[in-house]
Amino acid sequence: MGKLTYVKSASQLVCMDRGYGPRTGKGMSMLGIIANGSVVIEDGIIVFAGSDALAAQFLSSIQDEVEVIDASGKVVTPGLVDPHTHVIYAGSRENELELRLQGAKYIDILKLGGGILNTARSTKEASEEELIGQSLARLDRFLLHGVTTIEAKSGYGLSVEDELKQLRAARALNDRHSIDVVPTFMGAHAVPDEYIHNPDGYVDLVINEMLPAVAENGLAEYCDVFCEQGVFDNVQSERILKAAGRLGFKLKIHADEIAENFGGAELAAKLGAVSAEHLLKASEEGIRALAKSGTIAVLLPGTALFLMERAADARRMIDEGVAVALSTDCNPGTSPTVSMPFVMNAACLTMRMNPAEVLTASTINAAFAIGRGEEIGSIETGKRGDLVLFDVPNYRQLQYYYGMNLVHTVVKNGRTVVK
Ligand code: NIG
Ligand code: FE
Repeated sequence: MGKLTYVKSASQLVCMDRGYGPRTGKGMSMLGIIANGSVVIEDGIIVFAGSDALAAQFLSSIQDEVEVIDASGKVVTPGLVDPHTHVIYAGSRENELELRLQGAKYIDILKLGGGILNTARSTKEASEEELIGQSLARLDRFLLHGVTTIEAKSGYGLSVEDELKQLRAARALNDRHSIDVVPTFMGAHAVPDEYIHNPDGYVDLVINEMLPAVAENGLAEYCDVFCEQGVFDNVQSERILKAAGRLGFKLKIHADEIAENFGGAELAAKLGAVSAEHLLKASEEGIRALAKSGTIAVLLPGTALFLMERAADARRMIDEGVAVALSTDCNPGTSPTVSMPFVMNAACLTMRMNPAEVLTASTINAAFAIGRGEEIGSIETGKRGDLVLFDVPNYRQLQYYYGMNLVHTVVKNGRTVVK
């Protein structure tokens, strides 16, 4: 046997419901909890998950050195997964929060050349190493909050060269940091200044030059578009996403974040997107369409809070059978946080998701939202040894003691990375 890690005797080992595919409906409340549960990880992969009595038996025949992590009195969950971030950027935009507090609208700030275009300027100016450095510091903080895998979008480059730079940075983060980074190309995040009078010309650039270059260099698995009034309309979004699909990208959409009745959820369902993200203003028909197409709703209650908007209707989505996942949306404009625990609290308190649904949405469903549902997101033999030990005796307290970082220890691929 190889290197063994023995996470011993958690007061609750939250394995997650057994099953195939993302969890929906009542399945989102089934956590497969084992009291006094233990996990054994060998060479980064879970080889045992069950009661501590059985774990002791399992280990009795093994002579190799075993690293023991005492989890008594603690809740152990799968490593948290954040399926929607814009973590690779330079600079910050605290001035915009103050403008919005005075009544300015997010989309108007963008139209005046601020917002995403502001961050695009600082990201362009930063060297690739500077960009990687600033983003690595954010990943360190993600890890302290129990996150072991994230998605990361480009979209602050807005030129062929700078989009590629951002995606190379994503690859570097994945190589250099213990967090796994799943890359998404989002060249269609805003129309850059040079194309302000010719937005379709920019859509052509995305389709004819950016997408092929990203595909050729193998720099992204997903393609995402900011489908929004005043940004990319449904026709432009559909053109880009269909072109991406033809090149083998899986699809995501920033859908129904700001404008009412924009049809983003409907478009996501029609194109068979893996996920539709935000959905603050999704229509009832849109929600039903997502349930039918099996598109995962990635909800971002931190963003709703930071934009001072009403959160997405998670209850209706869950009741209609949509699989819901949660994410920070980490970005400098609408959600400058790396805290999944905070987002989980916000999901409970602003969307009335129960504590069990919140955990499902932040682990197994989030893993499926980035195509990793077979490898991470639950504690089962054969999956990666990514675990979080929380300093509470039962999982319900994770949503009761709000606004605190209760992460005690983080294990990534069987290795203790936060202690
Ligand atoms: O998910 N809505 C588009 N993208 C981000 C915001 C990006 C930014 O403002 O820099 C979001 O909210
Ligand atoms: Fe986003």
